[in-house]
Amino acid sequence: MKSVRDHFDVAVIGAGAAGMMAAMTAGQRGRRVVVLDHARAPGEKIRISGGGRCNFTNLHTAPAAFLSANPHFAKSALARYTPRDFLALVEARGIAWHEKTLGQLFCDGSARQIVSLLTDGMAEAGVDLRLGRTIETVTRREEGGFAVECSDGRVTATALIVATGGKSIPKMGATGFGYRLAESFGLPVLETRPGLVPLTLDPQQLAGFSDLVGVALPVRALAQGEPSEAGEKSDTGRKKDKRPAFREAMLFTHRGLSGPAILQVSSYWREGEAITLDLLPDTDLMAHLKAARRQAGRQQLRTVLAELLPKRLAQMLSPALAAAAGRAEEAMLADYGDAAFAAVARVLQGFSLKPAGSEGYRTAEVTLGGVDTRALNSRTMEAQAVPGLYFVGECVDVTGWLGGYNFQWAWASGFSAGQAA
Ligand code: FDA
Repeated sequence: MKSVRDHFDVAVIGAGAAGMMAAMTAGQRGRRVVVLDHARAPGEKIRISGGGRCNFTNLHTAPAAFLSANPHFAKSALARYTPRDFLALVEARGIAWHEKTLGQLFCDGSARQIVSLLTDGMAEAGVDLRLGRTIETVTRREEGGFAVECSDGRVTATALIVATGGKSIPKMGATGFGYRLAESFGLPVLETRPGLVPLTLDPQQLAGFSDLVGVALPVRALAQGEPSEAGEKSDTGRKKDKRPAFREAMLFTHRGLSGPAILQVSSYWREGEAITLDLLPDTDLMAHLKAARRQAGRQQLRTVLAELLPKRLAQMLSPALAAAAGRAEEAMLADYGDAAFAAVARVLQGFSLKPAGSEGYRTAEVTLGGVDTRALNSRTMEAQAVPGLYFVGECVDVTGWLGGYNFQWAWASGFSAGQAA
């Protein structure tokens, strides 16, 4: 029965990270705010994030850690709402936190504390949170503002903030609704694809790696393209390349490759391209091999490599490495010249692999692409062609690296819209 009829200053569609931040901020400014979501609970992705501890921000947040067709767009919002701003909220609520690694901040306790921070903040700001609502249509009203037709009635609002996230994890209610809504208002939407996602290998490659399932090791990984260290700047202070290299862990799985290094690279990887892995990123392999040859020339290459790499990986690679160096597998180190060592180092430190695909939206942490930022105001997130209509969070074409960057974008973009709407 459609009975509820209400007018608000601001309607937010989507009670996720970005929508709740926008609603809380607008509510704190005295706006009458309603939040509509089809889910039964708010902030479900926050709840499951960071292994249940929510990696809620990253201290190293900078525009270079975000992918977008319009790389300058994110600068304004990220500067106006920083990791320290969110941390201040976390501390004000007495939530204990710690830095895990690489600037990544996690709750000591549970990700639910971050959900409560937002729901309590909204309640204190008088925000009306309505869950379990199916949105049927969204239209512009002749008299100004927007009408949202819901399963239980119509809501009207002067401003509408769309915060419905991306397509990742459809099982959790991800719908791509925001993209369709943007298009229905004439806004351009850039092609979407899964990001921060494990990469898959073809059956032949998998058969070759079958003994390695469960093996993890630190690597330096990059998607094809000119290499540059993640975050590294050139002499002129400009970012060297759009496809950075990531020094993190990699994991062999039943389907292919995973672990933080692979998830990071997946956002830059395109179907049909190779990825390059340095399997010994912090080792001067030539120096190591030469020293081993001097000290114990009768040992085999595999024995030396097993000291540097996980044993199963060293065993699996040794026939290919010996072949690359033009040696028999059982050859002694003393039989290797420097050129043969260099051939071994080239394979191990520039290991090239062509993934068959990715695990897709089923397991992707984020969706790349989305509402084209060139159609939005970077200070407010408002659509330039549709006054009063805002897009925030993951549905916008701004996607962060793994490590708390995506929540920071949700907070920053949500805050910007909440300040303006
Ligand atoms: P979000 O997806 O959070 O919210 C969208 C909301 O809109 C949902 O409540 C949904 O129900 C609602 N909605 C969708 N369609 C609708 C419709 N048609 N009608 C009504 N409501 C609708 N990031 C990070 O920085 N640190 C981390 O630790 C993690 N960990 C992590 C783990 C896993 C498993 C995943 C899948 C993702 C992460 N992320 C992450 C990414 C992070 O969760 C993501 O970037 C943010 O949740 C995006 O926030 P949004 O508010 O934009 O979308």
